[in-house]
Amino acid sequence: MIRKAVIPAAGWGTRFLPATKAQPKEMLPVIDTPTIQYVVQEAVDSGIEDILIISGKGKRAIEDHFDRNRELEEILSEKEDNYWYQEIRRISEMANIHYIRQKELNGLGDAVNHAAQHVGNEPFAVLLGDTIIDSIIPVTQQLVDYYEQYKQTIVAVEEVPMEKVYRYGIIGGEKVSENFWRVNEMVEKPAVDKSPSNLAFAGRYILTPEIFKAIKDTNRGINNEIQLTDALRILNKREAIYACNIQGKRYDIGNKLDYLKTIVDFALKRPEFKEEFMTFLKEIIKKNM
Ligand code: G1P
Repeated sequence: MIRKAVIPAAGWGTRFLPATKAQPKEMLPVIDTPTIQYVVQEAVDSGIEDILIISGKGKRAIEDHFDRNRELEEILSEKEDNYWYQEIRRISEMANIHYIRQKELNGLGDAVNHAAQHVGNEPFAVLLGDTIIDSIIPVTQQLVDYYEQYKQTIVAVEEVPMEKVYRYGIIGGEKVSENFWRVNEMVEKPAVDKSPSNLAFAGRYILTPEIFKAIKDTNRGINNEIQLTDALRILNKREAIYACNIQGKRYDIGNKLDYLKTIVDFALKRPEFKEEFMTFLKEIIKKNM
């Protein structure tokens, strides 16, 4: 059983400056909901309510978002329609959220290592705080289901265009079944001609606690950071690792163009905006053709 989730959210967000100068990229809203709320919701929808957020400098807005705000609650409770009162209360009670600060940004592997004490000796989920995955079955739930069967590390992957592999961690492996591989290679941000495949880590993992020993044995890798991918490669010498091609669409909020696409996609899914927004988009497209 997977009881705990870790959400790394300490990064600078340099790809999204200047918006991220004084606010966390994880708080960038998709329409009206901060990115990290979607991520916490995915963990909760996957049956995980103990969540550790790896926070850092300038990230206090995340804590405030999931905290109670009694003044606001009071104002909202006096309104006739108490939808927002209920919703604001729900957000502060949606999970049991803990925080730890990563004081120096030494990479994703180092961020995950900050969870060692909280997680203890049990398998746990990792969900990157700047990545929303829209799916029918929550992606973390998809991984948990495989974990229950295999009891080994399971990573989410997705196919990316070959010319973009250098942006991701890439796996190589033997196909076990449809959309499922036993991993035997992992490289962080490989050159296109050295990439083992076009299957990229998609920001969701189920890790066994042995990952913490592997991280300790990991040297600084690309970008002079302790990479989770490098730690997984060490772990893979000691344990099996499986990769699941997820059923869902990944949105990387830390990337400006992806962020724009996310907002358009999500707006078209909202019944209250769909029709008018579609008309607006059609007009814009016509004008720019
Ligand atoms: C991180 C991981 C990488 C993964 C990517 C997914 O990279 O290190 O393996 O493919 O997230 O978004 P980053 O985007 O932080 O450079």
